Amino acid sequence: MEIIIKNDYDEICTEAYHIIYQKWQQKNNMVLGCATGRTPLGVYAKLIDSNKKGKINFSELKVFSLDEYLGLKETHPQSFATYMNKHFYQQINIKKENIHGLKGMPEDIDEHCWVYESLIKSVGGIDIQILGIGSNGHIGFNEPSSSFASRTRVKTLTKETIKANKHYFRDGEEVPRYCLTMGIGTIMEAKTILLLAFGKNKEDAVVNSIEGPVTASVPASVLQLHPDVKIILDQEAASRLKRKDYYHWVYNKKKGIERYTKKLKSS
Ligand code: PGA
Repeated sequence: MEIIIKNDYDEICTEAYHIIYQKWQQKNNMVLGCATGRTPLGVYAKLIDSNKKGKINFSELKVFSLDEYLGLKETHPQSFATYMNKHFYQQINIKKENIHGLKGMPEDIDEHCWVYESLIKSVGGIDIQILGIGSNGHIGFNEPSSSFASRTRVKTLTKETIKANKHYFRDGEEVPRYCLTMGIGTIMEAKTILLLAFGKNKEDAVVNSIEGPVTASVPASVLQLHPDVKIILDQEAASRLKRKDYYHWVYNKKKGIERYTKKLKSS
């Protein structure tokens, strides 16, 4: 795991943007896994800006959304399809046929989930999966106790997740209790994972995921087993980490390692 601690949210988004940009330079038809929530909005804003300025071209980009509320139509104002369209997809030059998302009202749920998994496989898998983290440690909508082997499926949301998502809904409007989400097993197959977190309310989930045991009680702790994961945090989200100094040291020495390994190869 690479733990990157930045000063503020804007710096987190800049770091994530650069990682995605570098991947796009190597592979224009890269496959990006997209999370909803407040966390990735700044990254999408930077990608949109770069696309508008002609620096990055998304005509070959393929995207897969991470999750969706069960029972909401695609056009529902609070559906994640609406959210992703509004905050990212509609503002870039992506082809409609390259946008993939889970449907909130599929005719056959099991078949829909299975087809989604097959679709991800058919494009060669996800190159970069963007993730936020719930204050209970969830990734996607994989709540605590989700199996590490889980695939795309229906999940029941915890009361705290329902409460946390309430502010997106109008007063009196019910927050859905069920969702469809890529499974932990699905997420773990992404080649690179970027987990972003900012703010004090994420500090427990962050420390438990990075420095605690790998346990289904903290779904994001599974990322300790992924070969290429970058966790990008602000000072508040990182505040309970015990090995902060080491993470800074490693990050600052990264350029040095690249130089050192080049030198070894050429000697
Ligand atoms: P947030 O949600 O980005 O709105 O904090 C993250 C999550 O619940 O996964």
